[in-house]
Amino acid sequence: MILETNLRTVFKPCGTPAESAFLQACRRQPASRIPIWLMRQAGRYLPEFRRLHEKYGFAPLVRTPELACAITLLPVRAFGLDAAIIFSDIIPLLEGLGLKFETGPGVEPVALSPVRTTAHVRELRSVPPEESIGYTLEAIRMVLPELDADNVPLIGFGAAPFTLACYAIEGGSSAIFPITKAFMMSQQSAWHQLMSKLSVAVGESLLAQARAGAQVLHLFDTWVGTLGLTDYRNYVFRYTQRAIQIARSANVPIIHFASGNSCLLEAMCATGADVIGLDWRIDLDAAWRRIGRGFAVQGNLDPVALLAPWGELKRQAHRILNQALAVQNDGAGYIFSLGHGVLPSTSTFNVQRLVDLVHEYPLTGGRPC
Ligand code: CP3
Repeated sequence: MILETNLRTVFKPCGTPAESAFLQACRRQPASRIPIWLMRQAGRYLPEFRRLHEKYGFAPLVRTPELACAITLLPVRAFGLDAAIIFSDIIPLLEGLGLKFETGPGVEPVALSPVRTTAHVRELRSVPPEESIGYTLEAIRMVLPELDADNVPLIGFGAAPFTLACYAIEGGSSAIFPITKAFMMSQQSAWHQLMSKLSVAVGESLLAQARAGAQVLHLFDTWVGTLGLTDYRNYVFRYTQRAIQIARSANVPIIHFASGNSCLLEAMCATGADVIGLDWRIDLDAAWRRIGRGFAVQGNLDPVALLAPWGELKRQAHRILNQALAVQNDGAGYIFSLGHGVLPSTSTFNVQRLVDLVHEYPLTGGRPC
């Protein structure tokens, strides 16, 4: 498929940093500014993404390296963000294991034949990442020279075993994942086999993305907040830890994000991640003090704040920045981001103003309140 020639020239590089503030923050080193990127930054709030989505559909965008590469660059070049995230999704990995999903514009991915039996767990293939996500690895190799020119690092990603299990068993999103959790509690041996397969699959996929050139890895556990701490410890922790252990041999920083339950924070830290991604339900300063300054932190603006008038968005961003600087007075180890993905109705104007606000935020002297 030939990419429109104008795509790469529409957005000019802007505000490129002299060095990567993002990687410095991951390593808890002081940087010249607080870095910012947004979860789901390459998505439906971007008019250019919507145009491509309408033309090709979602799966071809993920599976065509030239298109995935161009989409990865869109938000970075439009807003001057400090990191890119490779354009893909968490579902292709499950498709690689042999599951089939239905996706449509604005529709959540739905599994056509969800996993409900031990026999089905046994059938799941274990394939090397080159086979299951080869197109994403190719997109990573393709996008790197473009990002290097702007000195912007690339994030590779995957979903943690519990969130993958949710899509495999429940078949799609849910408020409380009753089918997944009932499977976990009642078919324990099948559950552990499934989680073991998923932990290796995602660990190896992260490792392959880093070997293809991703300088940071991001492990999303979007639905793990539906679990209590004891169940997390009994049924999930060791598999997330295993995935991180496998990815760890790439020797790049690992960000671990979970949503919906701050009771899990300390346990998440024990998985071996370097950076903890926070949602918006907990105050950033309280969370950082709890987990300690041995970890970098990312977050925690409510994505809905980007839909609010500028005055309110600015107040919320200032609060978070002030909380981060109250814990770490040079800002070292803090990455500004959202507590979940950018919503499709977000205005690009607000995104640009937020990026500029974070970049211009004074690290010394008087601070706005
Ligand atoms: O910009 C980026 O962050 C990179 C691309 C990316 C997508 N999905 C693109 C996408 C990333 C990192 C993801 C991760 C993802 N996907 C997660 C973990 C993080 C999170 O947001 O919780 C999860 C749970 C999914 C599963 C998923 N994929 C859902 C629930 C949906 C539909 C609803 C929605 O919120 O968009 C998708 C489809 C999807 N993934 C789209 C995009 C741009 C929308 C495509 C479409 O509308 O057809």
